[in-house]
Amino acid sequence: MPERDNSKLQKIQAELHSLRSSIRHHDKLYFTLDDPEITDAEYDRLFRRLEELEAQHPELVTPDSPTQRVGAAPLSGFLQVHHAVPMQSLDKVFNEKDLKDFDARVKKRLGSDEPLQYSCEPKIDGVAVSLLYRDGILERGATRGDGVTGEDITHNVRTIKNIPLRLSTTRGRIPSLFEVRGEIFLTRSGFEKVNQDAEAAGTRLFVNPRNAAAGTLRQLDPRITATRPLQMYCYSVGMVGAEGGEADDSLPGSLSGILEVLDSWGLPVNPERRVVVDIDGCLSYCLELLQKRPDLDYEIDGAVIKVDDRHSQHLLGSNSRTPRWAMAYKFPAEEMSTTVLDVEFQVGRTGTITPVARLKPVFVGGVTVSNATLHNMAEIQRLGLRIGDTVIVRRAGDVIPKIVKVVASIPNPDPRDITMPAHCPACSSPVEPDGDVLYRCSAGLICPAQRKESIRHFASRGAMDIEGLGDKLIEQLVDQNLVNNVADVFRLTAEQLTELERMGTRSAEKLVLAINKAKSTTLPRFLYALGIREVGEATALALANHFGNLEPLETATEAQLLAVADVGPVVASHIATFFANPDSIALINELRQAGITWPAIEGGGQARPLDGQTFVLTGTLEAMSRDEAKAQLLELGAKVAGSVSKKTSCVVAGPGAGSKLDKARELDIRIIDEPAFLEMLSELRSQ
Ligand code: IVH
Repeated sequence: MPERDNSKLQKIQAELHSLRSSIRHHDKLYFTLDDPEITDAEYDRLFRRLEELEAQHPELVTPDSPTQRVGAAPLSGFLQVHHAVPMQSLDKVFNEKDLKDFDARVKKRLGSDEPLQYSCEPKIDGVAVSLLYRDGILERGATRGDGVTGEDITHNVRTIKNIPLRLSTTRGRIPSLFEVRGEIFLTRSGFEKVNQDAEAAGTRLFVNPRNAAAGTLRQLDPRITATRPLQMYCYSVGMVGAEGGEADDSLPGSLSGILEVLDSWGLPVNPERRVVVDIDGCLSYCLELLQKRPDLDYEIDGAVIKVDDRHSQHLLGSNSRTPRWAMAYKFPAEEMSTTVLDVEFQVGRTGTITPVARLKPVFVGGVTVSNATLHNMAEIQRLGLRIGDTVIVRRAGDVIPKIVKVVASIPNPDPRDITMPAHCPACSSPVEPDGDVLYRCSAGLICPAQRKESIRHFASRGAMDIEGLGDKLIEQLVDQNLVNNVADVFRLTAEQLTELERMGTRSAEKLVLAINKAKSTTLPRFLYALGIREVGEATALALANHFGNLEPLETATEAQLLAVADVGPVVASHIATFFANPDSIALINELRQAGITWPAIEGGGQARPLDGQTFVLTGTLEAMSRDEAKAQLLELGAKVAGSVSKKTSCVVAGPGAGSKLDKARELDIRIIDEPAFLEMLSELRSQ
């Protein structure tokens, strides 16, 4: 039926047309304006669909289709640079099966069944650049542009501290003309600094480190670029030898060998790179890297797997845009767009009212996200958010999901403004402002939401650790007036509990046992469980160790509280206010009468060996888990931080330590390995 075929073809033509124009639009936003409005994952989806349709209908491929070139046109205002060896892109896979298929294809083409050696590296989310060295001197830096024509950014590249202006020759001969390629990026901390500076200057904030890096490289004024801590890692070579002349074959025969040579010439190469055997080696590498991802000080969006042997690379050759010898294994995207269906207001343990966005569920950072905290009204204002908006949600590592940006170009058909309710959504008491940005329910523990939250906190793992007392149960207990305050928990009987929904006799008895077990606790847990404002686990531990027992703490003055390593004036005032409140003392007495006990801490009130010191743990520890190492350090009085700064006293670096170790070296901070750390612990314990 030719007529039907015709209309089918028209549909495909229309889809191709719309895909191409939308990809072109997004290319411009991404490459030219550094202001994308969809995430990489969504862009990839469009691109893959276009590739798929074109593969099915090769007769419909047009020479100007985005699949036929690598990127977007360069920005005018910069000199153009021609890449004699085109800067290619990478094919991508998202799962194990497709990665294995890649390996199978490679082996088939090479006509070999032998396991292959692969060179693996993080895929850094930055900007691809080319550096040209003539006689060992940096002559030119250029962006990738569309892969064939890029922009001359020499003036900016020269400001980047880890790019040598002159190569050092400790190994081999440097070819007279030599082009190296790699990724320029901002570290996470560098990104924060750039945005702090932008905020101070009142200029527009960048959405993520990659856009900030791209925007920085497009600066016309290198003095601005120089204030931004860009870095580079090199991953390949381009042109080697004389321009248009003979290729130089003095470089090693493997990519890993080349990277070693680059390193010896003073060029930065990624310390996380590794050579592995066979595709299983690649997979283990990818999984380990995915685990390490939150600890790296720069953003990555996957791993790059490359056939290590250059002769095999040559045999495999390239497709139109991508080499056949390399593959990107993409990790779950950390940013996705979705719509805000509603904004609700949650009442916290201390009455703070927090706006929470209900989202159309979206898969981001490896989980499905349907809520994101908006923190406070100032955040809503900063984002310019209204209900119905399309937003970009970000979830990196285990961090709670966050809305980073409203996608202004996608119209909101029914925008609704977000306003703080005048009355508490849980108890209808008036909502009162607290300081500049916060609002609170004025009811205190009469408010059921505050009650539920305080019981949840009280029963949680770091506090009294009552196994089985979960959210659903707490809801019922409070709603049915069985529990009004945390002390009531200890009066619950198995009979009362069996009356509740989904509670059999056995689970009721088990819960009563768990409640009884929780009565023998420790002072730090008890202090944390009390839910004093801004007293987290670390502060509770510091207070317990400092005062040794509850009585001296109850009567401590703010000045005495300030003597505790972890306590500043705000926390000291919260603690003093808490103990000055007769209700708090009454509650503590009730809890004691219910049978809660803890041993006094020996040597409490005395200084501890690591008081005032901050440790950072990085890399793998073999003799103990990180949590254990952290607990031991806290017990000795130290603080444990997640990143290295000038305030860090010591870095404990296990195998695989990366950028935190580099940073510690840079700041000249004491670094110890695991054996030295264990020795230090045992020495301090025996003191
Ligand atoms: S290799 C022919 N290695 O990913 C091989 N690329 O879609 C070219 N990238 O434009 C790239 N980290 O900007 C390679 N370790 C790495 C990379 C990496 C990031 C980027 C690069 C390239 C894009 C490929």
